[in-house]
Amino acid sequence: MKFENILIEKSEQIATIIINRPTKLNALNKKTIYELGLAFDNLQNDDDTKVIVLTGSGTKAFVAGADISEFADFSVHQGAALAAEGQETLFDLVQNLETPVIAAINGFALGGGLELAMAAHFRIASNNAKMGLPEVSLGVIPGYGGTQRLPQLVGKGKAFEMILTANMLSAEEALKNGLVNYVTTPEDLLPLCYKLAKKITRNSSRAIAAAIRAVNANYDTDVDGYLTEINEFGHCFGTADFKEGTSAFLEKRPADFE
Ligand code: COA
Repeated sequence: MKFENILIEKSEQIATIIINRPTKLNALNKKTIYELGLAFDNLQNDDDTKVIVLTGSGTKAFVAGADISEFADFSVHQGAALAAEGQETLFDLVQNLETPVIAAINGFALGGGLELAMAAHFRIASNNAKMGLPEVSLGVIPGYGGTQRLPQLVGKGKAFEMILTANMLSAEEALKNGLVNYVTTPEDLLPLCYKLAKKITRNSSRAIAAAIRAVNANYDTDVDGYLTEINEFGHCFGTADFKEGTSAFLEKRPADFE
């Protein structure tokens, strides 16, 4: 499929999605959000993709936010619809994707850009990255899940500080606050993502999907996370991957999952 604002590369069961509007610092306009939603959905159904790495093109930005030029004259109703559609089409989709998503933050990750990175399963940043939710400086608040996911990752106090001051964190500060898992040089960013992704590809995709559902249940107030874990754990026992994984261990050989 041909996209206008994103590129997709695939190698060794790892797909890389590159948001490709570098002249606009990869700002998320409506079309980019739509294309990203479609790409994630396609890749989740692609048997040959076991991990997705998400990054921005160029050296300056991961994503510098939602495209401000598209919503500057919106009404109350249009504003609410923008947030609702974006959350459904992309941000919730990424969070609940059963194929793991690693965000490779290669520069500015602001507003919707940081919200997108936070929807991913984990994040790695290059040392030139800057991360923040500057929406209140525009007279609005984060609308793509930022007020919910930021406190989950950095704690309520730090989230309030970031959102209320609109300050950006450096990569090192983001590391210290649990927003990213590692900080690398720009050159090492994708290689580190691929190294971790490669490790993930060796594990059972079915068990990984179950783990994602169980961890996400912790943040869903409508479900009992412990019960979800019990059920997901039980379901694993009925899979060929469980038979293969346990047999391989007992036979002292590497597992070969379907
Ligand atoms: N929406 C739309 N366009 C954006 C954008 C956004 N969120 N962020 C950057 N751009 C565009 C700029 O308008 C500019 O386009 P132009 O060359 O056609 O004028 C281009 O990207 C380059 O950005 P510029 O501001 O010139 O780069 P800079 O290095 O001076 O500043 C930032 C970089 C990230 C500090 C600055 O672009 C910025 O503050 N962006 C908005 C961040 C934001 O508030 N995001 C939350 C949105 S809810």
